Amino acid sequence: MFPRTRLRRLRRTESLRRLVRETTLAPQDFVLPLFVVPGSGAKSEISSMPGHYHLSVDLLAAEVREVAARGIGGVLLFGIPATKDEVASEAYAEDGVVQDAVRAIKETAPELVVVTDVCLCAYMSHGHCGIVAEGEVLNDATLELLSKVAVSHGKAGADLVAPSDMMDGRVRAIRSALDDNELTTVGIMSYAAKYASAFYGPFRDAADSPPQFGDRRSYQMDSANVREALREVEADIEEGADIIMVKPALAYLDVIAAVAQRWPVPIAAYNVSGEFAMVKAAAERGWIDEQAVAMEILTGIKRAGADIIITYFAKEAVDWLESGGESC
Ligand code: PBG
Repeated sequence: MFPRTRLRRLRRTESLRRLVRETTLAPQDFVLPLFVVPGSGAKSEISSMPGHYHLSVDLLAAEVREVAARGIGGVLLFGIPATKDEVASEAYAEDGVVQDAVRAIKETAPELVVVTDVCLCAYMSHGHCGIVAEGEVLNDATLELLSKVAVSHGKAGADLVAPSDMMDGRVRAIRSALDDNELTTVGIMSYAAKYASAFYGPFRDAADSPPQFGDRRSYQMDSANVREALREVEADIEEGADIIMVKPALAYLDVIAAVAQRWPVPIAAYNVSGEFAMVKAAAERGWIDEQAVAMEILTGIKRAGADIIITYFAKEAVDWLESGGESC
């Protein structure tokens, strides 16, 4: 050991550090979430998510051109429908906002991977992720609706559907429904380990999807559990998930690492809205260096074992990578 071993030798210059760097970020690692609204000519900034907008389908085209030009891996679409009801009709409407958006993106930037969030909360008048009866979110009855949503997204041209509802058995139901509709090439990116998290706060404003009563703890996971996450992941792989997601990312890096060590599947991690908003807010106050902190966070998520990072920093991160920005 010391003094023969001196770990600082390889830290002396940036060139040496670069040579031995274990984790690097690239544009294709990132997936950018986008929020689509009905109508045309609509672009309004989401107040708790600086730099992110509610966009109508016509304006989405310009946005995705920019995203594709940066080499970003893909986009994840969320829809804010014109009307909500108790059966989430707009979620599987052939001319729903997400379905229209998928077709528009595939026309503008066919090479961009299009992922669609498959959930009902933004489309339900009560804001829950499933059918509600007597104050309970019903599991099995919800599977049918989720399957309809996934099929409608697949028919519109989505590459991957991403169920985020946390109902049991939804991957199996969606896989069967896609296959029955000759959508065998549409993949499933499953929100396998999705925790009931306070970090979704800004998103719920953006997607107008907060539950109108109660919370999501009867279906999303308890933040204290990791063994249970492994069971969720195992079930989803067995049911036919192509990509496994852990969400949120930052407070769950151990979950990402545990999943990555056990299964040879691509892993996505969702660097969620609250994680983004905290960095933006602190940077606005001059308390932290936004670029350095954001890149350190993204590097940490990748180092933990994520192959794909869903992040609101996607565009800025690519710009920072291109400007040769050091992570810290
Ligand atoms: C829908 C959904 C949520 C997020 C992604 N899909 C919110 C929730 O479960 O309440 C959160 C994303 C984010 O915070 O960035 N179920």
